[in-house]
Amino acid sequence: MSTLLLLPGDGIGPEVCEQVRRVAAALTPDLVVEEAIYGGASYDAHGTPLTDEVRDRALASGAVLMGAVGGPKWKDAPRHLRPEAGLLGLRKAMDVYANLRPAYCFEALAGASSLKTELVSGLDIMFVRELVGGVYFGEPRGIEDLPDGQKKGFDTAVYTTSEIERVGRVAFELARGRTNKVHSAEKSNVMESGLLWKQVITDLHAREYPDVQLEHILADNCAMQLVRAPKQFDVIVTDNLFGDILSDAAAMLTGSLGMLPSAALGAAGKPGLYEPIHGSAPDIAGQGVANPLAAILSFEMALRWSLGRAPAADTLLAAVKAALDAGARTRDLGGTLSTVEMGDAVLAQL
Ligand code: NAD
Ligand code: IPM
Ligand code: MN
Repeated sequence: MSTLLLLPGDGIGPEVCEQVRRVAAALTPDLVVEEAIYGGASYDAHGTPLTDEVRDRALASGAVLMGAVGGPKWKDAPRHLRPEAGLLGLRKAMDVYANLRPAYCFEALAGASSLKTELVSGLDIMFVRELVGGVYFGEPRGIEDLPDGQKKGFDTAVYTTSEIERVGRVAFELARGRTNKVHSAEKSNVMESGLLWKQVITDLHAREYPDVQLEHILADNCAMQLVRAPKQFDVIVTDNLFGDILSDAAAMLTGSLGMLPSAALGAAGKPGLYEPIHGSAPDIAGQGVANPLAAILSFEMALRWSLGRAPAADTLLAAVKAALDAGARTRDLGGTLSTVEMGDAVLAQL
């Protein structure tokens, strides 16, 4: 029997994860849901954001669902022990290299976007963000003293052929089940790792996926096109850093950052890591007003992609849609519902 390991984390993380717990209890009562301490909460309790024990439990679970980590409380923690370092360490340990971030606009929310309704109505983009490489992990990195008294801060953007190929395959495979179109976003005009990215994706496409329509796009133009005419995109494959930035921008197309779930997948048969793309939202944490839908939809993705429960995922997606159709809105969506009341609205539809 596979288990779901919940890692609520910090800030609004525990608030939104509590709604996932309620939904799981109602929808999949036989699913074993466990919980572990993680992020800043773990740093406070154990001096590290990710203990070996929690990492091992994550690796042994069917799927991991986290809330969010980080916040101003830990701004002075040693850098390698900050909550965010625990998140990067977990992604690396699970080797979840393909981060699926669907920017899907529910019809009822087309008017909630900061863009004109007609630009986002029917929007359905799938980002495939490389998640365990690039500048997030490249060495060397650091801050050094220079002889003239200045400091030098540096990071390394690096990708190998196989790292690009494996995430590229995920994008092309996904495209075949959608509208068969992939945009690959990089900065090959400036970065060597971006040039290699473009070459590897081009070769992979010619060799294995000639039936899929492929377009290369510079990442800055991609950002502009996302707010000019977002519906031209279907699957967008991109590196770790550009994927982080472009997916936050795309979240607003769907109405709110509080709507976007994600699935981070590794090798077949290994557990996936599911997380809302938003953070711990320190500005609203503790107020009970966070939108839990990104977390609930992350659970939907876990049911579908790791737990082998597609019918339950379909039921949950339909319940979220029905709740939105019935007018359920948290504050970020222009409404007045609390986190718990949005959970209630989904449960009522279930
Ligand atoms: P954030 O995503 O936490 O918040 C950005 C804005 O969106 C805030 O105004 C917030 O109130 C709002 N928001 C986010 N989620 C919401 C929700 N579910 N409902 C309603 N409003 C929501 O980004 P930030 O403020 O830049 O970062 C805060 C902390 O979170 C930082 O420490 C950052 O490193 C961390 N972070 C963690 C994750 C993660 O754990 N996966 C992701 C992003 C940021
Ligand atoms: C995200 C977050 C993380 C990232 C941070 C908190 C490490 O912004 O998941 O989008 O940059 O990947
Ligand atoms: Mn981000």
